[in-house]
Amino acid sequence: TGKVTVDPGFMNTASCESQITYIDGDEGILRYRGYPIEQLAEKSTFLEVAYLLINGELPSPTELDAFITRVNRHTLVHEDFRTFMGTFPRNAHPMAVMASAINALSTFYPESLDPFDDDTVELATVLLLAKTRTITSYLHRRAVGEPLLYPDYSRGYVDDFLRMTFAVPYMQYDTDPVVVDALDKLLILHADHEQNCSTSTVRMVGSSHANLYASVAAGINALSGPLHGGANEAVLRMLTDIQKSGDDVDTFMTRVKNKEQGVRLMGFGHRVYKNYDPRAAIVKSKAHAVLQALGVEDEMLDMALRLEEIALNDDYFIERKLYPNVDFYTGLIYKAMGFSPSMFTPLFALGRMPGWIAQWREMMKDPQTKIGRPRQVYTGATARDYVPVENR
Ligand code: CMC
Repeated sequence: TGKVTVDPGFMNTASCESQITYIDGDEGILRYRGYPIEQLAEKSTFLEVAYLLINGELPSPTELDAFITRVNRHTLVHEDFRTFMGTFPRNAHPMAVMASAINALSTFYPESLDPFDDDTVELATVLLLAKTRTITSYLHRRAVGEPLLYPDYSRGYVDDFLRMTFAVPYMQYDTDPVVVDALDKLLILHADHEQNCSTSTVRMVGSSHANLYASVAAGINALSGPLHGGANEAVLRMLTDIQKSGDDVDTFMTRVKNKEQGVRLMGFGHRVYKNYDPRAAIVKSKAHAVLQALGVEDEMLDMALRLEEIALNDDYFIERKLYPNVDFYTGLIYKAMGFSPSMFTPLFALGRMPGWIAQWREMMKDPQTKIGRPRQVYTGATARDYVPVENR
């Protein structure tokens, strides 16, 4: 082996070739399988985008129908699985429960574990898309002490997710079309983002030939951190803290720029985007629409707009090319929809599921794939002799 060089954070290391998602960070471009994110967000639906990411092409009408029907058919969870989820403390963080629940799916569906059998992988794919939705709604219901609701196959993926999350049992629940549309779009915006921290984790775990559930559960844990998916929750906590402290936003920004105790403007900055995150632009416009449609007036939205305005005109942020990322405005929309802050990152995970699956499947089929095993540059002690404890 030749000389290895260290690349902290893999700033300059490509770990794979991929045909799924294209990002041009300088221009603020994001495409799934060649299709611009703006077009998909405007015209497509989450399950269609899932199909596109996973299979490489948009489905025909019959293919789409068949796919939706298959996902729908698997949305119910096993009673023992429901019991299992019910054993976590109600105040547990939903991301920890979610990662455990997804991992546990492998124990309920042992027939879907072979990573090299196409039918088996297809089954695991559909099971994950279907059950993650039910699991996510149950995370909310558990936290508020309400029972899991059964899926209604006649309703759409997002529509029924909202009903299962917020409806009262045996009561008619009519979703607001503006809310259904907004959540559908948010899930599309989160559906893939090439080799980010969680996706690289999914690939790394899968490279040892671990099954899809084990790989995706690892991805969920990676996503939970505040520098990654956990940022959407952290943004809302930041806004709440500013509000409670009585400080104005300028004082907070001064603390950020002075790097006081490592305080960062959460929801800002990105490893790849050195221009406006195209997802953030779409989310920002949706935030206005949803809050208006729901008749919600949230002074936190004004606060967020003000923070953005200051940042975009401030040398600290300009020099470092820090722009709002996808997480900056999503929390305000989720909050208006009725989700608590700890549910924000599980919603990100629900959206990212097709991307993780697509990336894992691509890797498994790629003849270049080898077990992920980075090297290191050793900087520890040189060889020395062991000294028995009584002589130390
Ligand atoms: N607020 C203040 N300063 C920042 C921020 C921020 N949000 N982000 C980066 N910086 C500064 C950082 O201190 C550094 O300054 P200096 O050159 O003086 O040391 C410079 O900008 C470069 O930052 P970095 O940490 O080296 O950049 P990175 O590419 O390693 O990190 C990041 C990217 C997203 C982790 C980072 O920008 C960050 O922590 N942002 C806040 C958390 C966040 O919003 N994460 C969500 C990311 S997008 C979607 C997702 O993955 O969920």
